[in-house]
Amino acid sequence: MRIDDEHYQQRLNLLNECGLVGKSGKLHEIAETILQVAPTNVTVLIIGESGTGKELIAQGIHKHSPRRFKPFIAVNCGALAEGVLESELFGHEKGAFTGAAARRKGVFELANGGTILLDEVGEMSFATQVKLLRVLEEKEFMRVGGTEYIQVDVRVIASTNKNLASAVEGGEFRRDLYYRLKVVEIQVPPLRARREDIPLFVDTFVTQFARENSIEFPGITEEAMQILINYAWPGNVRELKNLIESMVVLSPKRKIDADDIPLYLTGPEEPVRHLPVRLDKTPDQAEREVILRALWALKNEVSEMRDTILDKLDAHAIKEAPFVERDDGPLDVSSKEISFDVGTPMNDVEREMITRTLLEAKGNRRKAAKMLGMSERTFYRRLQKYDLS
Ligand SMILES: Nc1ncnc2c1ncn2[C@@H]1O[C@H](COP(=O)(O)OP(=O)(O)OP(=O)(O)O)[C@@H](O)[C@H]1O
Ligand SMILES: [Mg+2]
Repeated sequence: MRIDDEHYQQRLNLLNECGLVGKSGKLHEIAETILQVAPTNVTVLIIGESGTGKELIAQGIHKHSPRRFKPFIAVNCGALAEGVLESELFGHEKGAFTGAAARRKGVFELANGGTILLDEVGEMSFATQVKLLRVLEEKEFMRVGGTEYIQVDVRVIASTNKNLASAVEGGEFRRDLYYRLKVVEIQVPPLRARREDIPLFVDTFVTQFARENSIEFPGITEEAMQILINYAWPGNVRELKNLIESMVVLSPKRKIDADDIPLYLTGPEEPVRHLPVRLDKTPDQAEREVILRALWALKNEVSEMRDTILDKLDAHAIKEAPFVERDDGPLDVSSKEISFDVGTPMNDVEREMITRTLLEAKGNRRKAAKMLGMSERTFYRRLQKYDLS
């Protein structure tokens, strides 16, 4: 085997063992870095948007290090109030603060010999940053309310979805700690920057969830896959994974097609959805696209919220006044029948059917789509087609 091939195989094995799916060049670079840093004790800073796999990478480093038989503990620094975080990290002595009924070990003690992941490290207060710097440099710390230093041997990995360099410039993060943390830096790209991996993610997650739920999943059409490839995925792999799980569990007994994909994924116009995948966009273009898609998703959410409220109001009105007579004004929509002459063009039939159903549903588009047995997306398309929106 050539050295190159051997290297490649090593990276593949590593990705496999870490549960990291993907074959993009960027992921292979990450695998290479994991292989290099795992045997050492250097501090690693993992930077990437939420849901890009930072924790999986941190676990990968731990699993491939000599520390693998000792604990790996992740602490979310952004989720805990300052005092709670200190006590979580360093433990406390009995009576250190109100409610500290007994001595408690913190994760630095619990993970001795192992690895700690400090997630969202950018959210840490200045006071805690000082204590962290001390553990990193002196390998010792004091419990909250304690008087003596405790020695530990812990490897620290930090992760952030925030730009720590600008937090340093803005005076929110200590410069010395920043440099201490980023001895090695791993940048994890957002999913939209490695779209070529999306089909592989889809296949992997479909297989996983179908097996877990003992469901036979008929698969997804090319067109539907193209929508998934083109979407901006602000929640990255986590968002894709969650979507696949719901699609598998709620799947119809036929192949998932474009109409089954939630509306907010499809973007503003048909042509945009079908644009070929372009990886050569400038950051400005890419950013504009993300904003546009986010706005579109927001618009859909607002209209869905409106529909839900209308639904609730309808239900309420029916409960409150079940026998109130309807006054539908000059339009005669009280009859639920429509008749057409033989040979009426199908477009006219469809247009009329949609208009009348919409009236019957009191303008609630979701309800009308349901009554007609159409997906909401198809319904919206028809509204546009017949200029009814
Ligand atoms: N390359 C990948 N292969 C397989 N699964 C992945 C990959 N990247 C992320 N995931 C999955 O996506 C989800 C989110 O991953 P993870 O928790 O590692 O992200 P994160 O970057 O730490 O997010 P956050 O910043 O929100 O903490 C997990 O369920 C994880 O298994
Ligand atoms: Mg995480």
